[in-house]
Amino acid sequence: MKSFIILPALASLATAHYDLVFPEWRGDSFADGASQWIYPCANVTQEKSNRTLWPLDGGAVNIHMHHHWTYYAINIGIGTLEPAFTATLTPELHNTTGNGTLCIPKLSVPAGLAKEGDNATLQVVTFDSFGSALYNCADITFSSKAVDPTDCKTDGVKDVIVGAEAAKTSTDTANTTDAAPTPSQSTGGAAASFGGAGAGVVAAVAVGLALMI
Ligand SMILES: *[C@@H]1O[C@H](CO)[C@@H](O)[C@H](O)[C@H]1NC(C)=O
Ligand SMILES: *[C@@H]1O[C@H](CO)[C@@H](O)[C@H](O)[C@H]1NC(C)=O
Ligand SMILES: *[C@@H]1O[C@H](CO)[C@@H](O)[C@H](O)[C@H]1NC(C)=O
Ligand SMILES: *[C@@H]1O[C@H](CO)[C@@H](O)[C@H](O)[C@H]1NC(C)=O
Ligand SMILES: *[C@@H]1O[C@H](CO)[C@@H](O)[C@H](O)[C@H]1NC(C)=O
Ligand SMILES: *[C@@H]1O[C@H](CO)[C@@H](O)[C@H](O)[C@H]1NC(C)=O
Repeated sequence: MKSFIILPALASLATAHYDLVFPEWRGDSFADGASQWIYPCANVTQEKSNRTLWPLDGGAVNIHMHHHWTYYAINIGIGTLEPAFTATLTPELHNTTGNGTLCIPKLSVPAGLAKEGDNATLQVVTFDSFGSALYNCADITFSSKAVDPTDCKTDGVKDVIVGAEAAKTSTDTANTTDAAPTPSQSTGGAAASFGGAGAGVVAAVAVGLALMI
């Protein structure tokens, strides 16, 4: 099995900060009193945040990466006031290389998770192989009137799904999907929807989720 098991207590100097461009972040996580090291939302207060309208089946996410490379995960909590992050929208492990802009044109939201007018918070987590993580959040409202950003572009960043490789090359765990819980039994969605890679990957993609703490 691959060895990128998450050890949340370890901090790494290799991690650099990043900006969440779209949906508009809750507030400036570089400001005084905020810190991207702080779970779950960088200690940014929610009162002054602007909610972005986001499509019911998911929408765009645009991130300025300032890392040489980083893993990332995007989690969601449904609700208005500091909802718990109970589901991930990135069931696979993503590895980005490069210092630039990452545009995810449409990050899917599973059908039935949200309905018109629901408030939610998206949590973006970047983390390294030691589990050292940085957080940013964006408050959204699910709406059929949501408009995609016009300037969402990937520039200078390569996004690779590590899980896809792991699933292909892993033989010792190749059959574990058979034993995965059905969606109705699953709380997080990460384990159930992941395509057969090792437990380390599943732990990694669950980073930042409320059920993991
Ligand atoms: C919300 O949007 C307004 C208008 O664009 C802006 O002035 C304000 O700084 C935004 N709030 C936050 C927390 O970024
Ligand atoms: C987090 O924010 C609160 C309230 O704004 C502030 O009192 C506290 O010092 C901040 N924590 C850190 C570690 O900056
Ligand atoms: C990323 O690029 C910005 C400006 O383009 C630069 O200020 C920053 O130092 C770079 N970071 C890394 C880790 O290369
Ligand atoms: C992620 O990308 C970095 C830089 O390209 C690489 O060093 C690292 O091994 C990758 N991680 C995995 C699990 O492939
Ligand atoms: C969503 O949040 C806004 C404040 O940001 C609030 O006015 C509105 O009532 C909330 N909607 C629901 C359905 O709770
Ligand atoms: C996976 O399942 C197939 C058929 O169910 C079986 O032939 C194969 O040996 C299994 N592989 C492992 C690694 O257990």
